[in-house]
Amino acid sequence: MSKHLIVYTTKYGTTEKAAGIIKDNLPGAITCNLKKEKCPELENFDWIIIGGSIYAGRIQKELKKFCRQNLSRLLPKNLGLFICCMYDGEKAEKQFLEAFPEELRRAARVRAIFGGELSLDKINFLEKFVIKKFIGVKESVSRFQPQAIAEFARKLGE
Ligand SMILES: Cc1cc2nc3c(=O)[nH]c(=O)nc-3n(C[C@H](O)[C@H](O)[C@H](O)COP(=O)(O)O)c2cc1C
Repeated sequence: MSKHLIVYTTKYGTTEKAAGIIKDNLPGAITCNLKKEKCPELENFDWIIIGGSIYAGRIQKELKKFCRQNLSRLLPKNLGLFICCMYDGEKAEKQFLEAFPEELRRAARVRAIFGGELSLDKINFLEKFVIKKFIGVKESVSRFQPQAIAEFARKLGE
């Protein structure tokens, strides 16, 4: 049976929920929140799934650093990449392109863009201003897609 590691970063928990759904669909999978936990030894896994969320067009710096520092160890693995974000279509694609190094994107067997969630009672005043002005969201909204995430996980089991 393949061994799966899901490495992720999150600010308000959407990506953590996505990582949890992926884990629940892959027996024996392990998750690692890069901001809180030490990453297990990559050599022990067949699949590495990497995901984060987008703020002001960028993925978390911890995830960028992880990809950069482990590039040579990641490239021979089966790779799955995903982001959680509010935009869709071309804007979301562009954010995905900028989130991961080109070599990883080319090598990845499975890629996905999942919708995000915005809860106005969780974010601070400045963030509220930013999302109203740039994303056009004025009230709490969820574009989270549990089914799409479960479908993504199924592809990682093949
Ligand atoms: C201040 C702020 C800026 C954001 N900027 C973007 C953005 O540039 N593009 C986008 O698609 N989503 C943006 N989002 C939406 C987040 O990506 C979305 O809320 C996501 O679900 C957050 O996931 P997390 O809780 O795992 O961090 C932004 C959200 C906030 C609060």
